[in-house]
Amino acid sequence: MISVRNVHKSFGSQVVLEDVSLEIEPGRTTAIVGPSGVGKSVLLKLIMGILAPDSGEILVCGENITQARSEQQKNAIRSSLGVLFQSAALFDSLTIYENVAFPLVEKSKLSRREIHRRVVEMLESLSLLPHAFNYPEEISMGMRKRVGMARSLITKPKVLLFDEPNTGLDPLVGQEVYDLISESRQKWGFTGVVISHELPEVFQVSDRVAMLLNGRIILEGTPDEICSSSNEAVQQFLNGKVDGPIKIH
Ligand SMILES: Nc1ncnc2c1ncn2[C@@H]1O[C@H](COP(=O)(O)OP(=O)(O)OP(=O)(O)O)[C@@H](O)[C@H]1O
Ligand SMILES: [Mg+2]
Repeated sequence: MISVRNVHKSFGSQVVLEDVSLEIEPGRTTAIVGPSGVGKSVLLKLIMGILAPDSGEILVCGENITQARSEQQKNAIRSSLGVLFQSAALFDSLTIYENVAFPLVEKSKLSRREIHRRVVEMLESLSLLPHAFNYPEEISMGMRKRVGMARSLITKPKVLLFDEPNTGLDPLVGQEVYDLISESRQKWGFTGVVISHELPEVFQVSDRVAMLLNGRIILEGTPDEICSSSNEAVQQFLNGKVDGPIKIH
């Protein structure tokens, strides 16, 4: 679904990614984990074609986003991708209904009637219909995440990328977000990529886990394989220990 092949990325003299290769398989959810500052968000931006690698290439649904020359070509490839950013980034001056309708109003040529039908269907599927005419500030943080999810799903992306879906949320709302990911995936069947440093919590929504450290994927496998790995850095990260190969900045 997404192939990351031998990707290198530096900013000036700072090497962030040094030969990263990763296969995101269709129909599954892959977690990309690693300590803060390791380059997880950079990898996400490379997949979306917001940043360009220094070398290597990235294929999204078989199409090479690294070699896409124009914004138009990139946008065509990006149409398979949906993203849910940490803050959910809703428009405060728009109602929940308008927030969810926004991508279709802006980017599709669908009729008003068809847009209305799809928005109502989506709001209903995520139990948001009672809040359709509320504004973001009038609903809880967990509900806002739901709206962000609805807005990402409305264009029916094949792959949904989550960047730290629950950083900054209290544990209960954090759990709601994981439940929301599982529930939405069952209903809408997307391939998921979840970027997180929340171990082991993120494992509950992950079929595969790739751990990024020192510019490379040091381990890739099922959550069970990661938990039983004898790799020192993995165990340090998993158990939240200060001492070990991972240096805390
Ligand atoms: N546009 C940029 N220009 C220069 N440096 C950048 C840029 N984007 C990211 N970096 C640097 O790349 C490194 C990796 O950043 P990144 O945001 O990917 O970390 P992360 O793994 O997502 O961390 P966190 O878990 O805290 O979100 C950081 O040192 C950051 O300062
Ligand atoms: Mg990040």
